[in-house]
Amino acid sequence: MRIVVVGSNGQLGSDIVRAFQDKGDEVLPLTHADLEIADAEPVVRKLREFEPGIIVNTAAMHNVEACESQPDRAFAVNALGVRNLALAARDLGTVLMHVSTDYVFDGSKSGPYDEQDLPNPLSVYGNSKLAGEYFVRSIAEKHFVLRTSAIYGKNPCRAKGGLNFIQLMLKLANQRGEVHVVDDEFVTPTPTNDLARQMVALSRCDSYGLYHATSEGSCSWFEFAREIFELTNTKAVLKIAAPNEFPAKVPRPKNSVLENRGLKLLGLNTFRPWQEGLCDYLGIPQSLKTALMQ
Ligand SMILES: NC(=O)c1ccc[n+]([C@@H]2O[C@H](COP(=O)([O-])OP(=O)(O)OC[C@H]3O[C@@H](n4cnc5c(N)ncnc54)[C@H](OP(=O)(O)O)[C@@H]3O)[C@@H](O)[C@H]2O)c1
Repeated sequence: MRIVVVGSNGQLGSDIVRAFQDKGDEVLPLTHADLEIADAEPVVRKLREFEPGIIVNTAAMHNVEACESQPDRAFAVNALGVRNLALAARDLGTVLMHVSTDYVFDGSKSGPYDEQDLPNPLSVYGNSKLAGEYFVRSIAEKHFVLRTSAIYGKNPCRAKGGLNFIQLMLKLANQRGEVHVVDDEFVTPTPTNDLARQMVALSRCDSYGLYHATSEGSCSWFEFAREIFELTNTKAVLKIAAPNEFPAKVPRPKNSVLENRGLKLLGLNTFRPWQEGLCDYLGIPQSLKTALMQ
């Protein structure tokens, strides 16, 4: 199959390129320098040249604070840029696989969100990504929209300055010896290579639609940090951050936990418990991993 990956040098995009190549697919990786999705004409031209079977889009403006201060640009990329891809996919008769976010929800639900739950974004970022989802779903007949949460990978997240949460925690622990982390925001840490493998698996079917796509289980950021320190035997003091110790400039959902209901109904959910993905990321040997998971 011929696959175009937009945002191919990003944290997630790099793993998606690798995952499709590992399956023998021919991949055209497109970086921001190759393609600006907010410009309609080059999008169509570039994509038509390659005649892909699937267009995968990871490109987004997803620094939440930047989106809040530049709403025009956030919508130009996350909504209208995605619309350009959806129009191109429709005209070429191609599948569009698009990555969206847990931030389409307001976080007020007490349990995990599934695909039937009503979005209610709290921020410009969340609103612009939701608008992008709607463009995909209403324009591109053959589409997959995958909402994910708290992703991390071996490749740096370009929009967030390069360090993922795990690297940041370990850096702070080494520098300060004491680390404070919030315990009132719940997520599901999801490795980008697991998500990429899930996307490849889904790409082989034609059950188009909206899917939640995260690791299994959930934790607060504090619990995530505690697991990182335990697995790496890091001796830093870890404390729950005091209320307002890290005042949020932009509101974020307190509960970002997603349930992969659609993938499970299809029998295609390939995700593992989040702790297992973390062990692999940290290079924990299989024997120790098995013992820890029991
Ligand atoms: N990070 C998270 O925790 C998280 C959680 C939920 C959902 N998501 C979603 O996951 C996706 C991938 O995130 P990531 O962490 O892999 O991000 P990333 O490392 O910042 O990668 C994004 C890629 O998109 C490119 N890009 C940005 N704006 C573009 C534009 N206007 N036209 C073309 N390319 C553009 C970037 O290039 P430049 O850097 O050169 O601009 C980069 O290659 C995003 O859609 C995001 O909304 C992320």
